[in-house]
Amino acid sequence: MKITALIENTCKNETYFTEHGLSLYIETSEDVILFDTGSSGNFSLNAQKLGKDLSQVDFAVISHGHYDHGNGLSKFFEQNSKAFVYIQESAFDKHYSTKIDGTKKYNGLREEYSSNCRFIKLNGNHSVNERSDIFSSVTGNRLMPISNENLYVLKNDEYLKDDFRHEQNLVLKEKDKLLLITGCAHKGIVNILESFKEKYAMYPTHVVGGFHLFTNTTGDKKYIDILHKTGLALKGMKTTFYTCHCTGKESYESLKASIGSSLHYLCAGEEIII
Ligand SMILES: [Fe+2]
Ligand SMILES: [Fe+2]
Repeated sequence: MKITALIENTCKNETYFTEHGLSLYIETSEDVILFDTGSSGNFSLNAQKLGKDLSQVDFAVISHGHYDHGNGLSKFFEQNSKAFVYIQESAFDKHYSTKIDGTKKYNGLREEYSSNCRFIKLNGNHSVNERSDIFSSVTGNRLMPISNENLYVLKNDEYLKDDFRHEQNLVLKEKDKLLLITGCAHKGIVNILESFKEKYAMYPTHVVGGFHLFTNTTGDKKYIDILHKTGLALKGMKTTFYTCHCTGKESYESLKASIGSSLHYLCAGEEIII
């Protein structure tokens, strides 16, 4: 399997656009898959530079209902006329974040997307084909990302703490490889991996994606403790990790100190073969 980071928060060199967002182009022996579309259309400009043809995508997956993972969709629909897009139905709920001044900012997908007929709206796990699953049945609340505390869903004029039921991951199986792709891992990367193990009877051989560990309170004792315990838990899984986006560079460096050579950073414009 070949995975190319079309866009994320950093890049390999200045040839590529960056933004707070994520988009991955995945080529398996049988399928071409787009996982997330970033926050603008810039993922498609990077795709062009990288020689990745969006019209060839067989299906797309939107990891959750936040703008930085799905607002590039209009560009995808312009360039691809066939692929269905798998998404949790609740991803179209109205998601908000809290700004530093305490006011709420809309953080969700563009509202006009919800009526688009290209979506396959899910409520939980789903098997796309014998090689690809959508995995959303995550339980547990260990080592939850601190910055989740600023994220809300607006229901009946009330801001409720987001429970991230709108979040899903992609699982790809090929030969002896079992790959998990995460968007933001709002449900906590350790919880996701433990739930994955319950379903698949093993940890994934590889994980690619964001772990939502960045925070603006990096000196916070609770944050340091979460990072340390997350690093120890991941190290024990014998999995190879490629992370980016909302993991944050500082958290990445701290995880690297625990996990070592099994952890890598994946920048926009980089390609990995699994
Ligand atoms: Fe998110
Ligand atoms: Fe994100």
